[in-house]
Amino acid sequence: MTKDTNKANANESEIASHWREEELIYPSDEFANQANINDKNIKSNFTIDKFPECFKQYSDLITWDKEWDQILDSSNPPFYNWFVGGKLNASYNCVDRHLSDYADKAAIIWVSEQENEPDRVITYSELFVKVNEFATLLKEFCGLKPGDRVTLHMPMIPELPITMLACARLGVIHSQVFGGFSGTACGDRIIDSESNILITADSYNRNGKLLDHKVKADEAVEQASSNGTDVEKVLIWQRYPNKYSSSSPMIQGRDYSVNELLESYEGKTTPPESMSSDSPLFLMYTSGTTAKPKGIQHSTGGYLSYAAATSKYYQDIHPDDIYWCFADIGWITGHSYIVYGPLSIGATSVMYEGVPTFPDAGRPWRIAERLGVNIFHTAPTTIRMLRKAGPDEPAKYNYNFKHMTTVGEPIEPEVWRWYYEVVGRGKAVIVDTYWQTETGGFIGATLPGTEPMKPGSCGPGTLGIFPVILDENGNVIEPGSGSAGNICISNPWPGRMQTIWKDPERFINTYFKKYAKPESKDWRDWPYVTGDGATQSSDGYFRIVGRLDDVINVAGHRLGTKELESAALTVPSIGEAAAVPAIDDLKGRVPEMYVSLKPGYEKQTTIENDVKQAIATNIGPIARPAHVWVTTDLPKTSSGKIMRRVIASISNFVEVGDTTTLSNPEVVDKIKQQVQSAKIELNQVPKDIPQEIIDEIKRFGEDN
Ligand code: WTA
Repeated sequence: MTKDTNKANANESEIASHWREEELIYPSDEFANQANINDKNIKSNFTIDKFPECFKQYSDLITWDKEWDQILDSSNPPFYNWFVGGKLNASYNCVDRHLSDYADKAAIIWVSEQENEPDRVITYSELFVKVNEFATLLKEFCGLKPGDRVTLHMPMIPELPITMLACARLGVIHSQVFGGFSGTACGDRIIDSESNILITADSYNRNGKLLDHKVKADEAVEQASSNGTDVEKVLIWQRYPNKYSSSSPMIQGRDYSVNELLESYEGKTTPPESMSSDSPLFLMYTSGTTAKPKGIQHSTGGYLSYAAATSKYYQDIHPDDIYWCFADIGWITGHSYIVYGPLSIGATSVMYEGVPTFPDAGRPWRIAERLGVNIFHTAPTTIRMLRKAGPDEPAKYNYNFKHMTTVGEPIEPEVWRWYYEVVGRGKAVIVDTYWQTETGGFIGATLPGTEPMKPGSCGPGTLGIFPVILDENGNVIEPGSGSAGNICISNPWPGRMQTIWKDPERFINTYFKKYAKPESKDWRDWPYVTGDGATQSSDGYFRIVGRLDDVINVAGHRLGTKELESAALTVPSIGEAAAVPAIDDLKGRVPEMYVSLKPGYEKQTTIENDVKQAIATNIGPIARPAHVWVTTDLPKTSSGKIMRRVIASISNFVEVGDTTTLSNPEVVDKIKQQVQSAKIELNQVPKDIPQEIIDEIKRFGEDN
């Protein structure tokens, strides 16, 4: 590790001149008066001296089969148990308990990408029937029992939340893999979670095409079996019921059509398993600094309480609201804020199958108008895309938002302002929610009714969360100092992951080792390390500047450099590969690959495409690099480590910095000439890069 890595030294005024971040924008009285939290003193109930008891208010939103007797067991940091002794079922909380008040209310409104296909509206009583039928099938036909793992590789169809809730009903741990990921990536996750059942769908619509999805199941099963994990059954939901839409044949004795099997389970019910608060609810795989994805393990009681409370207080969902989170359930945002959060509080949750701009950039606003959506939740990438493709589209539609969320990446203030002024008509509040797969729910955001917004900043820590920025030596960087550092969370909270599936060592090393006092049994000595860089201004608001580890955030999707590199190395001629982020107007960052050939291989014209294809096959199309640069050699330290910050700087036209520690400094100019002249020709020179992003590029890959 080099010493000068995390010093994003831009001072506050420099940052402010780029980001104009000082301006505070207050919610309207109309919004504040109706907000679930409109008490300006609410934070006094969540001060550190009230921790952990303050989180009782969160657990009170849940129906417990058996009340808990201890709020937090922190005797073995960093492994914590929340609501100890409590028992509950997540599916009961999201479905059964709403039947008395909301039986005929829509739980899910699903919108097809095909504009002429009718919506599917599923009421809470219909959801009860569907979840029960499928849970009974899983129990009786698949023999699943509490604690078993099941891998889901499903697109955005209503059967996805039904499947998750059916698993939860049985205490079965679901691991949903993003539908856009490849079969190979799905297979790797099957292996790690030791699932013997795969649940998928035959097809789905994306950007006007019906994609064949079942073929990926065949690849996934093959990948798993090559590593000794046998998938016994593949259950396939049909996108168009009673019509099989895939070119891949059904394999007798392995593949089953769920729609056919369900005929034998009509009207069947199965009681919800009463699970202990700390039993795992699901796994969600995410990228890290090694090629192997981490199975982030979330609990039942802590996670569900946290998802429910943040949905109520930060999404400000009321019983009559129509709430639309435009994310994919294959990511944590969809788990917490399409499924578990909204449904646990009896909301109406809209889900949409396809891409934002199909068939045109007015689509989201037409959906919002037609369904009466008043809470809208999406990511900066989508906002940027809609702003570019149809800046004047929102004005053409008669929808009425009171609340809008942004999540997943830093949002540039210009983009924030378009969202606020054009999409929200200067009326809807914006909540910039900062969090991670690991955190289960929001950890940095403004309370929409009581705290002002600041473009480009997420706001203070959420209720009961105490973030702190630490420098490389573990010293606190004071608010208002203008320096960036590692944003950490000082205390435990109910939504935090329990561990990495089957890898407690990696859990400690990844999230705690940097600053923990390993002998201590006091949670105060175990700050949670997010892996993000941030600054804090004197009013306490945090601004996230980007990842400090080897992760590239592409359109809100986390990709590990090692994952990209090992995928590139599957091409036989590639000897070495390095992935770096390049700045992209729409997606925030896109990966670029630098590769060199093994001795004895000549450069073939197909090589760039081969590498792109290998990455798409091993991970998924979202990981496809913008460029593959074939170089004779890569810049390396004397110990042979590829210096990614050097090539990242070249890709982004940022000053390369110190190269004296390179064993082959002569390659730098050569690569620079090759890459930059090509980019100049393609008119791909980034303009006006803010200082903190320059800093991110300059330190890329240096922290590990
Ligand atoms: C980034 C998504 C700036 C951050 C919920 C984090 C953000 C990573 C924000 C987690 C935000 C998330 N502002 N950056 N509001 N929200 N990030 O696990 O780098 O897919 O560590 O979870 O996204 O991505 P993940």
